Amino acid sequence: MQKKITVLSGDGIGPEIIAEAIKVLNRIADKYGHTFDYTYVDIGGCAIDKYGVPITEEGMACCKASDSVLLGAVGGPKWDTVPAQIRPEKALLAVRKELNLFANLRPTKLFAQLADASPLKKEVVGGGIDLLIVRELTGGVYFGEKKTEEVNGEQVATDLMPYAEHEIERIGRVAFETAMKRGKKLASVDKANVLETSRLWRKTMHRLSEEYPEVEYSDILVDNTAMQLIKNPTQFDVLVTENMFGDILSDEASMLTGSIGMMPSASLSSGTLGMYEPIHGSAPDIAGQDIANPLGTILSAAMMLRYSFDLAKEADAIERAVDQVLDEGYRTSDIMQEGCRKVSCSEMGTLVAEKL
Ligand code: IPM
Ligand code: MG
Repeated sequence: MQKKITVLSGDGIGPEIIAEAIKVLNRIADKYGHTFDYTYVDIGGCAIDKYGVPITEEGMACCKASDSVLLGAVGGPKWDTVPAQIRPEKALLAVRKELNLFANLRPTKLFAQLADASPLKKEVVGGGIDLLIVRELTGGVYFGEKKTEEVNGEQVATDLMPYAEHEIERIGRVAFETAMKRGKKLASVDKANVLETSRLWRKTMHRLSEEYPEVEYSDILVDNTAMQLIKNPTQFDVLVTENMFGDILSDEASMLTGSIGMMPSASLSSGTLGMYEPIHGSAPDIAGQDIANPLGTILSAAMMLRYSFDLAKEADAIERAVDQVLDEGYRTSDIMQEGCRKVSCSEMGTLVAEKL
């Protein structure tokens, strides 16, 4: 199989973690007889420095023309003061929007080997955590009209949060279909006691749930979800929610697993083109030191093989290799435990590649 991958390394630790994911992908290509052609495109702060914009038009066109996109992370304090319309994050949102990546899958899995790294008690995470957040990614308050204006002599800022029924329906379908392939349990997270968008969300989800009688469906308010994720996280299988709630809850959920550095994600459209990235940020404080955890990015590459290229066997092999390396006691500093062996970012990548 031959595939074109656009690689957006980005800022901070981005290039370091991406290098390790590429190491692993190259090993897969060799072993299973595939060809992956990589085109590197600047995104975020590094693109602002070079071109004055966080992604160029050619860069965006390259993403659109590829079979999938692999992303590291964008942003950093150096670009915190640039005008809002060219912030590094703008490029990320633009890629999501232009590639129509409306479905963001964020699996939260507690690797048994890392149970001690979870801040929750053993009694709470004991059964193992394996939940999936399905986050709507191209609508809501992230993309609604924004303005700051002067009203009665003071500044007033507004961010609109629109949701059209078809946007809710298509993310709902992804969630129900995904639940059918997992534990057949779906919780839809909203704030229907306050928000109009949530009332439409809930109504639409209820209509869809009639098409999926096998899925055990429930509604849950977002504030209660935040609480239940800490109190009893093993009750969840698949959660579906709008853009901003999903952003916040997925960071919370990642902490159940001990390190946000372990968490991959897939952003999908209705076709096979997707963007794959770890859910953590660019971690400028540790950039350039070769100490970041590349596993979230490596596991994102596995999701790319599974979802965009339909290479389940190869994806399984990567996930098994990660499991084995953890079993053997290798840890990056974020997940370091007593009795384990601390390795650098690049050593971790090499260890996973060697297991394949
Ligand atoms: C994420 C990030 C982004 C988001 C930022 C960098 C714009 O936090 O992918 O979760 O808010 O979606
Ligand atoms: Mg986030």
